[in-house]
Amino acid sequence: MGRAPFPGTFPMRDEQATARQGGTPGPDTEPRDGEASQALAEVWEGLGRAQKEIDPKYFYDTRGSELFEEITGLEEYYPTRTERALLERWSSPWVEESRPASLVELGAGSARKTRILLDAMRDHGCGRLYVPVDVAHEFLSDTARCIRSEYPDLAVTPAVADITAGLTLPVSPPGPTWYAFLGGTLGNFDVTPATQLLRRVARRMRAADRFLLGADLRPGAHKTAADLVRAYDDADGVTAAFNLNVLTVLNREFGSDFDLDSFTHRAVYREDKGRIEMHLVSERPQIVRFPGAGAVALREGETILTEISCKYDRPSLEAVLAEAGLRVTRWVEDEKGLFALVMTARRR
Ligand code: SAH
Ligand code: AVI
Repeated sequence: MGRAPFPGTFPMRDEQATARQGGTPGPDTEPRDGEASQALAEVWEGLGRAQKEIDPKYFYDTRGSELFEEITGLEEYYPTRTERALLERWSSPWVEESRPASLVELGAGSARKTRILLDAMRDHGCGRLYVPVDVAHEFLSDTARCIRSEYPDLAVTPAVADITAGLTLPVSPPGPTWYAFLGGTLGNFDVTPATQLLRRVARRMRAADRFLLGADLRPGAHKTAADLVRAYDDADGVTAAFNLNVLTVLNREFGSDFDLDSFTHRAVYREDKGRIEMHLVSERPQIVRFPGAGAVALREGETILTEISCKYDRPSLEAVLAEAGLRVTRWVEDEKGLFALVMTARRR
């Protein structure tokens, strides 16, 4: 890896004893393919922070994507059904007004709700191209295959990409183009990366283009912090399984030896930050090995932050949008103020 050890981690070749005995083993220099070693470097860096972290994009292998789909149907998880109802109410009039020729969707997943937009585009005779973008490549190709068979007149060009790394599209979409980022996934990025991501889209946008966002809202008259925690810690343990699955992904991708039985799921609402945090709690002191990088030591009760899910109100979201060069053209919420569907355009 060619990097120094991080606090809470220590490099280890064959024997962790080397480090335990106070030796100073050098970092492992085994050659790895560039992309894999860059990914390992990122994961290693996250696990070296004072608050250990794993990037939530690692949730979404096929099993993780399936578990997320299961979450969307849970009684406790209100965002999906609430956003769906908003899309059912507003897609047709908004499409009629702006007549998008293309739809580029970030973090498309199964694109289940996207069909509401695609139906409206078809009904109004304007949709020609759909570009679902997602890091989950297998799930994405399934999604593209299903959409192609359901919408034979629509060109479907999926793009496997990490949307935090750039937004290079495989085609030049005919305009007007709608970009969409549904489900409240923007909330899974902290303010700086969220702003960068939005700005990247804003810079591609022409005057007639639009960017549609789903945003989960902060506690209010009909939503308590406890409701939010329930949405991320359901009674059936589906979210717990989703959270723990990230360790299976890391074990497979990086050969690490996380013991899933030694971790438990925790969801908390951080009032100060207006966000849900999902953690994996180490139930005992333990050492996790990462071949080619080193080993990570966890204390009993120490946590790994696996996901943030920022909740917005109108001023906080408008501030992020303005910073990214976007302005709100439409803002609609359900009658309980649980979730908002927000249409934006490039700032003039
Ligand atoms: N839009 C869908 C799915 C949301 S789940 C919905 O509203 O239900 C979040 C999706 O974003 C997953 O499909 C996941 O694979 C994708 N994703 C997460 N991080 C990503 C990243 N960094 N780059 C690209 N896609 C990402
Ligand atoms: C994809 N994203 C918007 C979900 C959320 O609500 O933050 C991911 C999720 N994590 C746990 N449950 C759902």
